[in-house]
Order: sequence, then structure tokens, then C-alpha cells
Amino acid sequence: MDELKNRVALVTGSSRGIGRAIALRLAEHGVHLVINYLRKKSEAELTAKEIRKHGVKCLVVKANVAVDEEVFAMFEEIDKEFARLDILISNAASGVLKPSFQLTTKHWDWAMNINARALLPLSQGAAKLMPQGGHIIAVSSLGAVRAIANYAAVGSSKGALESLVRHLAVEMGPCGINVNVVQAGAVDTEALKHFPNREEILENTRQRVPMGRLLTPEDVADVVILLCSDKARMIQGQSIVVDGGYSIMA
Ligand SMILES: NC(=O)c1ccc[n+]([C@@H]2O[C@H](COP(=O)([O-])OP(=O)(O)OC[C@H]3O[C@@H](n4cnc5c(N)ncnc54)[C@H](OP(=O)(O)O)[C@@H]3O)[C@@H](O)[C@H]2O)c1
Repeated sequence: MDELKNRVALVTGSSRGIGRAIALRLAEHGVHLVINYLRKKSEAELTAKEIRKHGVKCLVVKANVAVDEEVFAMFEEIDKEFARLDILISNAASGVLKPSFQLTTKHWDWAMNINARALLPLSQGAAKLMPQGGHIIAVSSLGAVRAIANYAAVGSSKGALESLVRHLAVEMGPCGINVNVVQAGAVDTEALKHFPNREEILENTRQRVPMGRLLTPEDVADVVILLCSDKARMIQGQSIVVDGGYSIMA
């Protein structure tokens, strides 16, 4: 996909997990990268090292996506380094995994601020650097539209995220910016280790998924690449499910 060569992408939360796989896939297609992280600098630097092996530039920026000032400062750095942005992948996420009756409003705000609210300043900052048009993709989960044990706060934040994507898609379409969601099924990353019922989730997924295996970070990354291609130019405001068919099972 030569068309991606020399484009510039910001992937939030790309020090590890799915974000890292997306950043690496973009680098394989010749895209210059901005790697964002919050705590794990060494993981971010390792990812950057792998990315630079593909002959592309890589800027590493520590910024909490839930803090507006840090998001705006990150865009200043991107502007200084690249003076443009073509792709924003809003991937960073966090949350408290508990049954609803154990959740506090602090837990709720934590999930909402990182997983849903952050897309607002991120897409505002990105759009300013996309006068040439571009792609904004938010990474979501099946929990945006389904009830999952211990997932009330995160699932609700993903629902809000997907609604915001549809509204942004309407407003940014006329500016040549595609805005979409990739809604993933369970992937065995660090994030899954925080689930009290991790083993049960993995076993249930293995047994049910029509494609017969667990989803990998690369499976999700490949769908992101598809959405970044010019062939996907008329896909707008959609949530594309990548789960090996898990969610269609009765
Ligand atoms: N794993 C799954 O089963 C699954 C399923 C469906 C959807 N998803 C979605 O896929 C995305 C990635 O998930 P993952 O499993 O790869 O997660 P992960 O392994 O926990 O990685 C999270 C990433 O986000 C960064 N991050 C966390 N809070 C941040 C903040 N406030 N500001 C900036 N960066 C922050 C982390 O940075 P540090 O390294 O610095 O901590 C890390 O790079 C999320 O949107 C998640 O909801 C995951």
C-alpha cells in the first residue's frame, strides 16, 4: 500500500499491546510515527527502536490523553517535528474492572476521561494538522454495545467514544477526514491481566469464536491499516468489528 508512504501518524498508547502493533504495521507501510505513552518509557523507546528499523522517523511523546494541556503540548511537538498529521489512532485506554455496584464516580470519571473524553481534544488537535485530509480511528471493544462482567465503566466509556466518532464523522467528512471505529474482541494483552475473570474470558472466546483462535494485536492492526487506505475512503462513521465472528454467535 504505497499510498501510505511518508504519511505521519499518531498512535496514542503505543508503547505496548494493540497500539504498538498498529504503530509497527504503519511503519512497515512507510508511515512516520508518533509514539505516545503515559508511564512505561522503556517500552515506548523499545517500540520506537523497532519502528526506526523500517527507515521511518519516530517521535516519542509522554502525554496523558486525559489532560488537555498535555494533549495540546503533544500536538505542538508534532507540529514542530512534522508540520502535518495524516492519521490519528486513538487507542490509549484504561479503566476499573468491577461490578457496577462497587464502582465509584471516581472510577467512572477515570474511564470516561481517558477512553471517551480524550478523543475530543485529540481530534481537534489532529484536524488542525490535517488541512490535506486524513484518517481518525478510535479503538473500541465489543463492550461498547454488549454487557460484559466487570466492564460497566469501560463499556460505557466505549459507547460514548463510538457516539462521538459518529458526530465527528459528520462534521469532519466535508474536510476530507474519515472518522471510524475498530471494535475489537478479546486480545490477550496486559490489559486483560486486570480482569478478575481473565481465564474464563479467554476460554469462552477460544470455544466460541468461529475462526477457531484468539485474536492477536496484529489482527486488529491489519483492520486499522485497511481503514487508513484510500480504498476505505467512503467508510465514514462506522464501527468495524474484528472479533473472528465471536459476536454473531447465539
Ligand atoms: N486487550 C483487549 O482484549 C482489548 C479488546 C478490545 C479493545 N481493546 C482496546 O484496545 C486498545 C489497546 O488495548 P491494549 O489491550 O493494548 O491495552 P494495554 O496493553 O493496557 O496498553 C495500554 C496502552 O495505553 C497507554 N495508556 C494508558 N493510559 C494512558 C493515558 N492516560 N494516556 C496515554 N497513554 C495511556 C499505555 O501506556 P504505558 O505503557 O505508558 O502505560 C499503553 O501504551 C484500548 O483502547 C482497549 O480498550 C482491547
